[in-house]
Amino acid sequence: MNIGTFTIQHTDGAARAGELLTAHGVIPTPIFMPVGTQGSVKAVCPQDLKDLGARIILGNTYHLYLRPGDEMIARRGGLHRFMHWDRPILTDSGGFQVFSLSALRKLSEDGVAFSSHIDGSKHFFTPEKAISIQRNLGSDIMMVLDECVPYGADYQYTRKSLERTTRWAARCRAAYPQGGGEQLLFGIGQGGFFKDLREESIRQLRDIPFDGYALGGLSVGESKAEMMDILYHSAPLLPVEKARYLMGVGTPLDIVRGIDAGIDMFDCVLPTRNARNGTLFTSEGKLNIKRAEFAEDDSPLDPQCSCYTCRNFSRAYLRHLYQAREILSYRLNTIHNLSYFLSVVTAARQAIQDGAFQSFKSQMESIYDT
Ligand code: GUN
Ligand code: ZN
Repeated sequence: MNIGTFTIQHTDGAARAGELLTAHGVIPTPIFMPVGTQGSVKAVCPQDLKDLGARIILGNTYHLYLRPGDEMIARRGGLHRFMHWDRPILTDSGGFQVFSLSALRKLSEDGVAFSSHIDGSKHFFTPEKAISIQRNLGSDIMMVLDECVPYGADYQYTRKSLERTTRWAARCRAAYPQGGGEQLLFGIGQGGFFKDLREESIRQLRDIPFDGYALGGLSVGESKAEMMDILYHSAPLLPVEKARYLMGVGTPLDIVRGIDAGIDMFDCVLPTRNARNGTLFTSEGKLNIKRAEFAEDDSPLDPQCSCYTCRNFSRAYLRHLYQAREILSYRLNTIHNLSYFLSVVTAARQAIQDGAFQSFKSQMESIYDT
């Protein structure tokens, strides 16, 4: 099988269980990708990630380009070698982070000018530059440079923006032609909250062959109902035979609904970020370890979970670590939350294989209301 091959093994309704072949191995789908923005999934080691069963992690072009620099990483053999992670890596293109983090950004047809959130220095990303950085990083899956349209953008702005995103996508593809090497390139559909524009964006991207297709511009401040409306409308429009990725989403229930809509890949900072502020996801719902009720609770965080944290530590101890601001709190909480998110996609995959996805989804809806 060739790198980039996506095989669907089972379907249950629109939900799919498949496998994507990359240069660093096979990714079973549906999959959740822990976020390792700066070449590190915060608070855990690559070995922890392997023990948790993580199959692919995400890195960020924007951060790694600014610090320590993509050429510096290339001189060290690429991101896998630099951070000692030998499983697949997906890198986001930088577009989204420029919009969310940097000041003084200015868009033009050629690209986006921005100043660094670290030292204010000035930079310019073009589609070609985004590819060249991701080539230096050596990620298994590269993303095209796009504009994530801000929530509330009007129809005209959104239409112009998605057309430019398509032109940028074509330039990314030209800078790295299909089969040009071991890295894959995914396109990103935009179009805001206008269904005809979502259709137009995906239609234009389908004409450029990509190895996979993402939905961007969601989870940007809209209501859950608006996000679900666009998700269920747009996911089926993505090519059925390619891997489909919902960027930056979401809660356990969002992920299960994404799978229900036919999405294969997800990433979100929620499990790692929430772990560090004491919010933990369990088989009984969300729990805040800060709460006084856990002060002398000797039970495990989640009795259903078999992660290192749940096997060995009590809620009382985890609350103590949190209150004392101990570094170990971040680590143990992150191990659990990632384990939980990974267990959700693993269970979803099994449910699809068993033809039991709808009952799995109902079960998740009874645990989480959003
Ligand atoms: N991460 C979350 N949403 C987006 C998006 O729309 N574009 C990109 N590049 N990354 C994202
Ligand atoms: Zn656990």
